[in-house]
Amino acid sequence: MSRNKKIKWEPDNFELQMTTVWSFPERGDWATHNSKYRGNWSPYIPRNLLLRYSQEGDLVLDQFAGGGTTLIEAKLLNRNIIGVDINSDSLDLCKKAVDFTRENCGEVYIKQGDARNLSFIDNEQIDFICTHPPYANIIQYSEDLEGDLSHLKVPAFLEEMKKVAAESYRVLKKDKFCAILMGDTRQKGHMIPMSFEVMKIFQEQGFKLKELIIKEQHNCKATGYWKTNSVKYNFLLIAHEYLFVFRK
Ligand SMILES: C[S@@+](CC[C@H](N)C(=O)[O-])C[C@H]1O[C@@H](n2cnc3c(N)ncnc32)[C@H](O)[C@@H]1O
Repeated sequence: MSRNKKIKWEPDNFELQMTTVWSFPERGDWATHNSKYRGNWSPYIPRNLLLRYSQEGDLVLDQFAGGGTTLIEAKLLNRNIIGVDINSDSLDLCKKAVDFTRENCGEVYIKQGDARNLSFIDNEQIDFICTHPPYANIIQYSEDLEGDLSHLKVPAFLEEMKKVAAESYRVLKKDKFCAILMGDTRQKGHMIPMSFEVMKIFQEQGFKLKELIIKEQHNCKATGYWKTNSVKYNFLLIAHEYLFVFRK
């Protein structure tokens, strides 16, 4: 965005989150953020995480970059960031999203790749991992792209997340943090706590759990069809995700 029309670059009255419950009813529309990329996270999430767990000039990684929310925030907050996604369409969006100029901005490196194999990054190069994988096949991000984890059912997805955890551990510097947002799903009326499975996978890899944050979901449909079925079949609509912050 080189044409410099009047843009709001920062959120109004921003305050760091102080508790383990995060809720952003207004998802955030500053800089080049928008909600067009399906399932993208609110920019308030990476902003809070980047401010707490990284410093200016650090090298951050988002290996599931999607529409580029984390990349925009890292650039604005003067962190350098590597954004990886398996899908070249996502990367085109990322490039547009970070096409702006401001003083004291970080560098953004965008690369098509697979979060399960980050061999282009040497061991212990990354200061902070800030990422948001697909939640198994709840939302599919491509038609049939090879390696796209959003096509996998829960057991296969969890198996592949072991490789993601191993690569995350390998590239992160010692004592540094890795933040992951993950949701759950429901099958045949019962909860599948996929997020806790992912948490265990990261712990088994060697990460220590620093924070477990509940993030309220505001796009949950609690009206019409879903409201009727929630009462008829007696199940609750999932309205939260978990944000895990690990330390290596
Ligand atoms: C939940 S979205 C990320 C959204 C992002 N946080 C945002 O705000 O725009 C998950 C992304 O993971 C990508 N993805 C799926 N499998 C992948 C893999 N094996 N390696 C890297 N990216 C992958 C999808 O293409 C999708 O863009």
